[in-house]
Amino acid sequence: MADGIEIPHFIRLSDLSDRQIEDVLELSARIKRGVSRAELAGRTVGMLFFRGSLRTRISLEVAMHQLGGDTVNLTAASDFWELEAREGTVMDGAAPEHIKDAATVLSSYLSALAIRPAPAGASWEVDRRDEGIHAWAACSQVPVINMESALWHPLQALADLLTLRETLGDLRGKRLAITWTHSPEPASPAVIHSIVLAALRNGMRVAVAHPAGFELDGGVLDEARRVSSSTGGELEIGLGMETAVSGAHIVYARSWKSLEVYGNPTLAASRMARTGDWLVDEKLMALGEEARLMHPMPVRRNLEVTDEVLDGPRSLLYRQAENRLHTQKGLLSLLLRR
Ligand code: CP
Repeated sequence: MADGIEIPHFIRLSDLSDRQIEDVLELSARIKRGVSRAELAGRTVGMLFFRGSLRTRISLEVAMHQLGGDTVNLTAASDFWELEAREGTVMDGAAPEHIKDAATVLSSYLSALAIRPAPAGASWEVDRRDEGIHAWAACSQVPVINMESALWHPLQALADLLTLRETLGDLRGKRLAITWTHSPEPASPAVIHSIVLAALRNGMRVAVAHPAGFELDGGVLDEARRVSSSTGGELEIGLGMETAVSGAHIVYARSWKSLEVYGNPTLAASRMARTGDWLVDEKLMALGEEARLMHPMPVRRNLEVTDEVLDGPRSLLYRQAENRLHTQKGLLSLLLRR
């Protein structure tokens, strides 16, 4: 049996060593095959949602329940009040409580604290610092788990890695095409940042397609280049959809915001209107190497991906979403094991 994982917090995938990721994925695969024990009896994970969720919330709750533990789930909009994050401020505004006080109190009840922060959305330079989740991590005496911040979605990355390995076996040298898609409400690039780094860390060839102005975060791309130079992975960015998908084993679709006009809805709308067609259909998928489709969901049918692809044999979406449960059980089991 693998040793437990001792890390202060799980904010991004690189908080885990290669060995720890292998242990989580190995245990997750065993759990998926039915080998699981209720080893987290008496352990409770608190979940704070500052934004909505379907998969992350339910899969974490079910994961803890199936491992014999509990969850407590609070939604910021309805269950509690604004929290102050700034140090040394005179708290005469809307927030009646400081994160440091809330985090210290919650740490005395909980075994871990899972947070989905809500980036303010005004400035990418500010939001990319992920100050919300780091403020909780700085003040919490139990591990903080990131349930998707502006920059990272490490829980999704674990499920994606398991799905990739189940589908392709050894990932080294395999081609992953990541393509931007249309959405009236694009997400932050957190999922894409996480899968780009995870894939390169596993030696994959990663090709990213997006319209002009939808470049990924510059700091993440610098890190991606450093990772690829040490693992033999390859990174190409700024491609067209067809070029990226040609010869791809996996097509990963997702809509993400333009970071160039982040926080400016008028410019964002006009930029979006100029993007043209960015829809994944069967004709595009046929350019790949028996390509399969991944997407973290929720997916907008016939705007991001056609029904034909989503409901056909190429789609891995339901398996990918199911793997959220298994990989979170693997992670929680190792993180909270006594
Ligand atoms: N992929 C993902 O995180 O889904 P939710 O937003 O529904 O949690």
